[in-house]
Amino acid sequence: MSVSGVRALLDPAVLPDPFPLYREWREDEPVRWDTDIDAWVVTGYRESRILLRDNDRFGSDWRRIGETTPPSLLSIQTLDPPAHTEIRHLMLEGLKAVDAARKLESALPGQVDGLLAAVEHQETVDFVKAFAEPLTLWAVTGLLGVPQPDKDWFVPLSNTIVDGMDAALRPECYEPGVAARAELSALVSEWMKAPPPGGFADYVIRKAESEKIARDVLWNTVRVVLQAGFQTASRFLATGLLAILRIPPGLRQPIETEVAVNELVRFAGPVHAESRGCVEDTTLGGKRIRNGDEVTALLGAANRDPAAFENPDALRWDRTPNQHLAFGRGPHACLGAPFAVQIARAAFAAITRRYPDAELAAEPVYRPNVTERGLYGLEVSLRGNSDRAKGGDHHAAQPLNS
Ligand code: HEM
Repeated sequence: MSVSGVRALLDPAVLPDPFPLYREWREDEPVRWDTDIDAWVVTGYRESRILLRDNDRFGSDWRRIGETTPPSLLSIQTLDPPAHTEIRHLMLEGLKAVDAARKLESALPGQVDGLLAAVEHQETVDFVKAFAEPLTLWAVTGLLGVPQPDKDWFVPLSNTIVDGMDAALRPECYEPGVAARAELSALVSEWMKAPPPGGFADYVIRKAESEKIARDVLWNTVRVVLQAGFQTASRFLATGLLAILRIPPGLRQPIETEVAVNELVRFAGPVHAESRGCVEDTTLGGKRIRNGDEVTALLGAANRDPAAFENPDALRWDRTPNQHLAFGRGPHACLGAPFAVQIARAAFAAITRRYPDAELAAEPVYRPNVTERGLYGLEVSLRGNSDRAKGGDHHAAQPLNS
């Protein structure tokens, strides 16, 4: 019987591969009380899906369980229907009005090519800094119709916010996270006071006024899109490429379809925890959950549940159906999932087609994050071993006189 709580997920020995521990918990109790965070922890697929979808019983608005939410946090993420529905519709309508998906699709290949061309001849490259972060920042600010902030300022700030999401396990990350969020809010305020004409921000500001959606909620939601979109999509490019590079080159295949990208996000998606507050006494997975209890779904665990996925620890590029929870489910399901898939597909298609022999140049180090997993860096050699690229054997070439 398992005794460890979620704090064990930060153990350097567990951080790179939490899946055996997830399995242990799921097989033991798919819904278990965790004394490390005083919350229910859900590792079963069925129970996680219910948690995410059943907004009547499990809310994202913590005020429904009597907690206070500061105005700076009221956004698409922390409101529940009906207020949530208004802001979510506004965001979706704005993205449609500016034809965001089509514009992204046509601009992505050039951006991907440019970033790869700049580094492909280097012996090794940090894929996170040279590719994943710049591509995603370009894409997300492009969707929002705002200028790109300075990457050296933005990225560390944004990582500090992610660290703050694990404050239940790392309390020292709470205050820096709050301060970083306030700094990001200041940037968003600048944009919203003078949005570039004709873009997404411009559109939603006008529409919010006519629909009487609170200014704070809109501005905070734009901050959430920037933060959530940048972090999740850039972390996924790194964790996804790592999963691909773990496959021996001869067994790899080009990752070119939405089906394949969805399998990769099931297997190596970065978002591993989502929490809800229980708003009425109820049961979940046979456990009695009380009004006011916090319930956290470990999405990474649910996505490897054998009751939902045959051979869950294997990547099956043609897995269909694939009802994974990597983008969430229900009213709060990922707003940016179609864009995330577009970005990942363009990136992985180019990389797997052009560099079939790419290889890891160093073992990556995981950031100490449980909620949104990610890497400090991913040092890769895109061309791989040149002998292998020419079809030679898998041994490094030796000098003749060795
Ligand atoms: C691989 C990349 C991504 C992953 C794995 C991911 C994952 C998720 C998950 C699991 C949720 C659900 C949160 C919950 O249940 O409370 C979510 C929500 C959200 N995501 Fe993503 N996401 C990704 C990319 C993006 C992108 C690119 C954007 C924006 C351009 C974005 C914007 C959002 C927003 C705004 C929400 C909140 C939706 C709501 O509460 O109604 N995400 N995402």
